[in-house]
Amino acid sequence: MYLLKRFEVIARQRLPILFIGVLAGFLLFVNSAESYAEPFKLGPKKCQECHKAEAKVWSGTKHAKSFKKVHKSKKAKKIVKAVGGKSMKRTALCASCHYTSVKKGKKFKLVAGPSCESCHGAASEWISIHNKKAPKAEKIVAASAKGMIWPSQLFDVAANCNSCHGLTKENLTGDNIKAMLDAGHPMNADFELVKYSQGSVRHRFYPPKVTENQAMTPAEMARMFVVGQAANLVSASAAVSKSSHAGYKAAQQKKIAAATKLLKSVAGQVSAAEKVIASPTPDNGRALAAAIADKDLSGVVGGNLPKKFK
Ligand code: HEC
Ligand code: HEC
Ligand code: HEC
Ligand code: HEC
Repeated sequence: MYLLKRFEVIARQRLPILFIGVLAGFLLFVNSAESYAEPFKLGPKKCQECHKAEAKVWSGTKHAKSFKKVHKSKKAKKIVKAVGGKSMKRTALCASCHYTSVKKGKKFKLVAGPSCESCHGAASEWISIHNKKAPKAEKIVAASAKGMIWPSQLFDVAANCNSCHGLTKENLTGDNIKAMLDAGHPMNADFELVKYSQGSVRHRFYPPKVTENQAMTPAEMARMFVVGQAANLVSASAAVSKSSHAGYKAAQQKKIAAATKLLKSVAGQVSAAEKVIASPTPDNGRALAAAIADKDLSGVVGGNLPKKFK
């Protein structure tokens, strides 16, 4: 998979054909079957075939609209240059967060901004499992083993938003973080899951009211707030030493401080919150999400909920 990704990067940057030929030969030789079995994205048009209401909401979001815009700004061009790229769309680093790359034959094509599979996982391996007529609990296990992130897996949903919004993706190195930030890339210290998911992004057409985009109840919002803070803490704690850039460190530290304060306020009721503070790991984050699944924490965290949504 790593090789395949490298190949994609090199192919996009149009390095000499000879090199590509050699690399392609090498790939086939190594283990093409395994490389191509790696999950890839199908694109939002595929999802739209069955999820029309969700697709309509998405098409009105900044995620969707940015596709035709973001690469054109002066700022974007300056940031691309700082990491040694020529254009945002041909620079794999930028594309990994800003675009949806779909496999067409053996090539990849950018078809949209961040879209369905940016948040729910690349679908090539799970699409045929997730909509089968089978008990939902079984499908959740089977499809998530193939890379699906279900809405109910709230910690993983939130951790995934953070990988882009916290600039913590694996492909980012300390050096390119510094270059991007020095060239003016935004560093968002205020990403909070409720605020960012319950405004323009919200699509909650849950049965039985499948035609209604349902608002969350205060109890649901409070749970999402707590899980979102746990994910912020886990993500920022792992990222804080990734770059020595002062702005990057400060943003991660701000997130750590806010999340720690919030989790301390619920630790009296839920001991799993204390564990996330003591050891901010994904497993402890998931355990907290499970521990509060039936709890109403709106009395404890209600005052922290955002008044306005993005
Ligand atoms: C052929 C129709 C079809 C296509 C195409 C399809 N889905 Fe689905 N999807 C379904 C059905 C049916 C369900 C309901 C499964 C259930 O609740 O048991 C579902 C459920 C889901 C859920 C979980 C909803 C919940 O309540 O937990 C998500 C998320 C989802 N789909 C995302 C996607 C994405 C992303 C794509 C595109 C990559 C996609 N789907 C493509 C039919 C489809
Ligand atoms: C780790 C994910 C990630 C990577 C990699 C990344 N970006 Fe971004 N970028 C974001 C996010 C997220 C935002 C929105 C800021 C926010 O609210 O969190 C953003 C915002 C921007 C903006 C401001 C857009 C606006 O509407 O004002 C520009 C320009 C931009 N990025 C350019 C780039 C370029 C060029 C690259 C490649 C060198 C790049 N980005 C790489 C995640 C990323
Ligand atoms: C920014 C990330 C993001 C994007 C993009 C996104 N989703 Fe979701 N999706 C979520 C979150 C978060 C939830 C849980 C919603 C909640 O409970 O508030 C969700 C819930 C769902 C559900 C269950 C609720 C329902 O409406 O039945 C389905 C189905 C779904 N998404 C499909 C899609 C499809 C299809 C697309 C693309 C057209 C898409 N999503 C784009 C994050 C995203
Ligand atoms: C694959 C990377 C990626 C993921 C995952 C992602 N986003 Fe984004 N998001 C972006 C980028 C990039 C932008 C900025 C687009 C621009 O300005 O051009 C953005 C912008 C937004 C905005 C608009 C912010 C504003 O100031 O107007 C909201 C809201 C948002 N994202 C919410 C979410 C939520 C909630 C999740 C998780 C459920 C999520 N995003 C997951 C990349 C991502």
